[in-house]
Amino acid sequence: MSHAEADHDTRRSRQWLAGEARGAGVDRDRLLELGAAMAALTAAADEREPVAVAPAPVGVDPGIAKPLPPDLLRPLDTNAEMRWTALAGQGYVVPNDRFFVRNHTVTPHLDADTWRLRLFGTGLRGAPTRDAPVEFGLDDLRRLPAEESTALLECAGNGRRYFAEQQDDPAPGVAWGLGGVGVARWRGVRLGTVLRLAGLRDDAVDVMPEGLDPDYVTGGVNLGRVRRPLPIAKALDDVLLAYEMNGEPLPADHGFPVRVVVPGWIGISSIKWVGPVEVSTTPLFSPWNTRFYRMFGPGHPAEGTVLGAQPVKSAFELAWDARVPAGAELLLRGRSWSGNGPIDRVEVDTGDGWRPADLVAADRGGPWQRWTARWRPPAPGRYTVRARATDTTGTTQPDRATPNTLAYLFDGIVHHPITAL
Ligand code: MTE
Repeated sequence: MSHAEADHDTRRSRQWLAGEARGAGVDRDRLLELGAAMAALTAAADEREPVAVAPAPVGVDPGIAKPLPPDLLRPLDTNAEMRWTALAGQGYVVPNDRFFVRNHTVTPHLDADTWRLRLFGTGLRGAPTRDAPVEFGLDDLRRLPAEESTALLECAGNGRRYFAEQQDDPAPGVAWGLGGVGVARWRGVRLGTVLRLAGLRDDAVDVMPEGLDPDYVTGGVNLGRVRRPLPIAKALDDVLLAYEMNGEPLPADHGFPVRVVVPGWIGISSIKWVGPVEVSTTPLFSPWNTRFYRMFGPGHPAEGTVLGAQPVKSAFELAWDARVPAGAELLLRGRSWSGNGPIDRVEVDTGDGWRPADLVAADRGGPWQRWTARWRPPAPGRYTVRARATDTTGTTQPDRATPNTLAYLFDGIVHHPITAL
C-alpha cells in the first residue's frame, strides 16, 4: 500500500515537473519559488535559538472544539498531541477524547443537515462541474452499505522534536513528540461505492477530496483549501468516507460530519470535513503533494523527493521523565507501528543491553502492536529506556533518523528519561 503511495507520488512529481500541473496554488514556478523561500526561511531558522510556542490557556484552544485536559493532550500551535501516558491502561484504539488533532487552521462547525458531498470533474460521466456537482447528503451515505476499518492515522511530522533534541538537527515546523499518531475504528461507506454511484468513468485517474475548513495561508500566500489527490486505484480500494469514529458520530475536530480515511498513507491524505471531491481523467496536483510532504535538503533535489511510507516508530506509555519506585519491578508498556506493514519484533533497553519485549498476541498483524517489558530499576537515579521495533519487511529503527529540511519521518530510537526514587 505504502509502496503504491510512493510510486504514485514519484509519477505525479515527474508530471508536475514536466509542467502538467494545473489549478490554483500549483503553478510550478511559483511553487519552486515558494520552495526556495522556504529553504531560506529554514536556513534563517537554523541560526536562531528555538522559539518556544506560547501555550494556549490550559484546557482551552480557540481552534479546537474538544477540551484539552493537560493529562490527555498537549496543545501545539493549531494542533494538539496525545500524551502517551493517556494510553496507559487503554485498549487497542485511542479514545476520541485523547486522539491527536492536526489542524492547518481551525475546526469548522458544519451543519450535518445542509452538508453535502459534492463530486465533480471530467472523471465522472457527463463531466459535472464544481457548481453543478453530483451531491450526497449524510443520510444518503448512511443508507449505503457501511464498513468498518481499524486504521492508524499519523502526521508525517510525528517525532519531529527529536531531530533537534536528540540529534542536534534543528527542525522547523510543529514540534511533535511521538503523540501525533492514533488508531481508531472508523465506520462509513467506501469511497469507491460513492464514486461508482456518481458515474465514475473507466479512464478516471485521480480523485481529490477537499476540506471545508478555512483556506490555508502561509508565508502570505493563500494555498486554498486543504486537499490532496489520490490515485483511482487507492480510492477504489480501502478508502472510507467515515462518519463514525470508535462508535460515535465523528467528533468536530476529527472531521464531522464526514472525513476521508486512507489506511496506510500519511495523515494528510485523510482529508477531514470533506466537501468537494474532484474526479479527473488527468492528473491532479495540490500544494499538499508538490510543496509539502516532500523531503528537501542535503541529498534531495531542489524540488524535493517523495515522502514514502511512515517509518517504524516505538513509544512507551509513560510520562516523559516519569517517576518510578527504585527496587520495585515495573511492567513497561508501549506500542510500535510502521507504514510498511505489521510489526514483527520489539526490543527494549533499560541500560544493560537490548532484550525482546513481549508482544500482545491479539495485536499481531494490526496497524500497531502493543508490547510489555519487565524492569526493576536497581537503585534511585536517572535512567534512559529505549525501544526499537522491526517491521515485517525487516526494517529496524536506526539510532539516528536522517535529517531533512521539513523534518518529516523521524524514525530514530527515542531516549526516554525515567527517574527512580
Ligand atoms: N483535513 C483538513 N480538511 N484539514 C486539515 O488541516 N490535516 C491533515 C488530515 N486532514 C487536515 C486534514 C493531517 S496533516 C493529518 S495528520 C490528519 O488530518 C489528522 O487527523 P486528526 O486531526 O483527526 O487526528
